[in-house]
Amino acid sequence: RPVSLIGVPTDVGAGHRGARLGPEALRIAGLPEALVARGVEVRDVGNLQGPRNPWSGPVHGYRHLDEVVAWNRALMEATYAELADGRLPIMLGGDHCLGIGSITAVARWCREQGKQLRVLWLDAHSDFNTSEVTPSGNIHGMPVACLCGLGPDALTRLGGNAPAISPQQVRQIGIRSVDAEEKRLIKQHHVDVYDMRYIDETGMKRTLQQALAGIDANTHLHVSFDVDFLDPSIAPGVGTTVPGGPNYREAQLVMEMIADTGLMGSLDIVELNPLLDHHNKTAELAVDLVESLFGKSTLMRG
Ligand code: ARG
Ligand code: MN
Ligand code: MN
Ligand code: MN
Repeated sequence: RPVSLIGVPTDVGAGHRGARLGPEALRIAGLPEALVARGVEVRDVGNLQGPRNPWSGPVHGYRHLDEVVAWNRALMEATYAELADGRLPIMLGGDHCLGIGSITAVARWCREQGKQLRVLWLDAHSDFNTSEVTPSGNIHGMPVACLCGLGPDALTRLGGNAPAISPQQVRQIGIRSVDAEEKRLIKQHHVDVYDMRYIDETGMKRTLQQALAGIDANTHLHVSFDVDFLDPSIAPGVGTTVPGGPNYREAQLVMEMIADTGLMGSLDIVELNPLLDHHNKTAELAVDLVESLFGKSTLMRG
């Protein structure tokens, strides 16, 4: 499937500024060329426009809610347009609040096409906070809850009246930082979480097999790749590092196993913060992993 790159230079959902520079850093790290080298047709639609970051404090438990809504409306429309054009959109983030707009569009598309949607959330964090329980007010800690209908109407109803997805469509992998009340919500809503302890005990291969169980040829896989999923020793260029993440080989295996399904229909690459990176190395690693997502094997198979 041909790919469309959608730059989403936002950090209004984050606690650090700099993720707005992520799209350019990914381009400079060679993402378009890497996809072309995989034989993929690539169209870069450029960067979306949105409000600037006011850098103000939380209001009723949300920082920059109006700005987050504006960015996500624009992204929802752009994502839907590319899907409707038969293309695989790749969101170049930008902070993880953008998953609300991208996945709302993907969910609508899947409903219209009669496709089953499975969301693979690769992240150190569950991003299931609400305004009542958030420790920060940062909306990049809330997108999964918003998509499942927990949050402000302006975000939970971005795509209409019902929640965009149900928690049963989500598999979270790599999780190792969940706030106390967030944990309660995750359990209450039965989100399927493969945390780092589970991965340590089970191994990445079996973890992925379980996260992918039940998919079939009619499944659309959306991959939401928060770069802080990776261990900070290999991926320092993010605002919210958490030690104890997947190493290089484990991360490659995740991407290779997703590629093997042939079912990925959309992808977010989020939370890359070039201001915290070293010589764009985290962006280059993200590109390396995306090559694997598009079928490049580090083994002798392809
Ligand atoms: N749980 C913390 C919060 O809600 C951190 C969230 C980090 N999220 C992210 N997408 N990096 O503030
Ligand atoms: Mn994260
Ligand atoms: Mn995240
Ligand atoms: Mn550093």
